[in-house]
Amino acid sequence: MKNLTSSYMGLTLRSPIIVSSSRLTSTVENLVEAEENGAGAVVLKSLFEEQIISSANSLSVSAGYPEADDYIDYYIKSHSVDEYIDLIVKAKKNLSIPVIPSINCFSSEGWIDFARKIAGSGADALEINVFFMPLDRKRSASDSEKVYFDLITKLKKAVNIPLAFKIGNRFSNILYMIDQFYIRGIKGVVMFNRFYEPDIDVEKLEIVPAPVFSTAEERRYVLRWIAMASAQDIKIDISASTGVKDGEDAIRYLLAGASTVQVCSVLYQKGLPYLNTLNREISDWMTKHNFNSISDFRGKLNWVNYSKPAVFERNQFMKHFASED
Ligand SMILES: Cc1cc2nc3c(=O)[nH]c(=O)nc-3n(C[C@H](O)[C@H](O)[C@H](O)COP(=O)(O)O)c2cc1C
Repeated sequence: MKNLTSSYMGLTLRSPIIVSSSRLTSTVENLVEAEENGAGAVVLKSLFEEQIISSANSLSVSAGYPEADDYIDYYIKSHSVDEYIDLIVKAKKNLSIPVIPSINCFSSEGWIDFARKIAGSGADALEINVFFMPLDRKRSASDSEKVYFDLITKLKKAVNIPLAFKIGNRFSNILYMIDQFYIRGIKGVVMFNRFYEPDIDVEKLEIVPAPVFSTAEERRYVLRWIAMASAQDIKIDISASTGVKDGEDAIRYLLAGASTVQVCSVLYQKGLPYLNTLNREISDWMTKHNFNSISDFRGKLNWVNYSKPAVFERNQFMKHFASED
């Protein structure tokens, strides 16, 4: 096996393959299995503030007993956070690869409180699973963007461990956002989260969830933006996420400039031992192409390193169809 050592947010990983946040990373048994099968790091299932609050609400006694409601709210919140901290502590005890918890909150206090507790638990870094749904047509893009920047300011004041922002792909200018994250001290950016999406069942006339697992086709949009972002003159590490189905897909993201590659759907479908296959395929390809380390080829085909950078800028088919005629 070739040396697959990779660097991510100052952490040294034995492989660029990271098991991304999902239920797969919610038990110590699974985390150990991921390590045994070659994961470079693990991102724990997100701790969702919304979920904790809704559990508290469903147990609420009645509007007539606000003190009781407050107590239940406090109890559920601290209990859920305690359980999560327990998972981090156990993971750190049983694993030697980096352990990266993940949080998703909506209140300022939630973000800061959770981040502080997690940083104090020995986590190697923290992934911020962040998306603010723009539901208000009176709010401009810059109003929405400011919410992200204010959050970084608060988080940076609260904790010292490296922070990665796991973002969606819907910004007016993705490169501007990543630049601003970097300026504000964010060490890593996960490109991109893949969100729950609604679809319509035309027979039942109901809204139904779209497929939960990604397809390989979803990879190409991500590839373009990683190739563009990694070519910027800034030191923020990119972790690719979405649509990795095999070692070749991981290699594509590394060639585009990602430092690490996260996998989720494919592990649900093929099991955690598939991590071995991903590492083996990367290693075999490196042997075939005479690369001895990941840094020998990482970013080789990004926006500045590729000999024809205009391919990343093109978005109309007219030239393609003209040449096909
Ligand atoms: C069942 C399931 C649960 C997930 N839960 C989380 C989560 O708790 N936090 C998070 O940041 N991402 C979550 N994700 C998103 C994945 O971490 C990942 O970013 C996304 O699935 C794209 O990667 P993939 O194409 O390898 O699946 C979840 C995905 C799936 C399929």
